[in-house]
Amino acid sequence: MLIAQISDFHLKPKGTLAYGVADTEISLKRAIAYLNSLRPLPELVLITGDMVDEGAQESYSLLQQILSLLKVPFFMVPGNHDHKKSLQETFPDHRYLQTGVEEQGRPYFCFTLESHSLRLIGLDTVTPGEHGGGLGATQLAWLEQTLEAQPKSPTLLFMHHPPFASAIGHMDGEVFRGWQAFQSLISRQPQVERILCGHLHRPIFRRYAGTLASCCPAVGMQLTLDLREEAPSTFTMEPQSIMLHLWTELWGEKTLLTHLGVVGEYPGQYSGPHPFFGVVSPE
Ligand SMILES: [Fe+2]
Repeated sequence: MLIAQISDFHLKPKGTLAYGVADTEISLKRAIAYLNSLRPLPELVLITGDMVDEGAQESYSLLQQILSLLKVPFFMVPGNHDHKKSLQETFPDHRYLQTGVEEQGRPYFCFTLESHSLRLIGLDTVTPGEHGGGLGATQLAWLEQTLEAQPKSPTLLFMHHPPFASAIGHMDGEVFRGWQAFQSLISRQPQVERILCGHLHRPIFRRYAGTLASCCPAVGMQLTLDLREEAPSTFTMEPQSIMLHLWTELWGEKTLLTHLGVVGEYPGQYSGPHPFFGVVSPE
């Protein structure tokens, strides 16, 4: 099973540059063209939040138009730049966005996708009005119950906010709400193959509670690679990337393997493929 992950488009209304710099419409169209050109095509695409930049309805209409170009099904979780109600209204056929749990009087999307060889669980870490994320007691109870219902099913979790610090100073001030309870819950569920996140606009990996957690680079713009505590909030227009997660059997063992794919500004920007001649180790 081949799963593509894309994240953080920060789409603006047509004709508007994000932060006066980034043409996020073009970036998203390039990423979709890149995904559609992959061989083999992924079975589905997971989108880990911040599909639009400021929650504007015009941005969601544009999002819907562009995503309709994808040749494979896609599933989304919201990011802190998304407006959940607009997201639901723009994609009424995405029934999983109608289900969830209520936490302190607010609805949160929480859902499972059961018809694939890897069980997929989407988590909504967004509380309107907040930049940082987290999971509350009701969501965690739902997650534990959902995981315990199928302890033998290899499972992939996807969510916007990473439940760990990144060492990018300006992002770490916002501690993931409930991170300790979440970490302890995951450590009791060895069937969790991976936790896929967005939000940090960079490729990041770490060991996490007996599994691996990762952040996907952004489609819109990348956060500056600045690991100082005083790192200011800035971005760069480094190349966009996507992640490909392959659930397969190789050398007789089942594994979830991740590759990074770099999206060019135009087809053929990066030359290749070129023959790579095999050479044995020099004696
Ligand atoms: Fe983002």
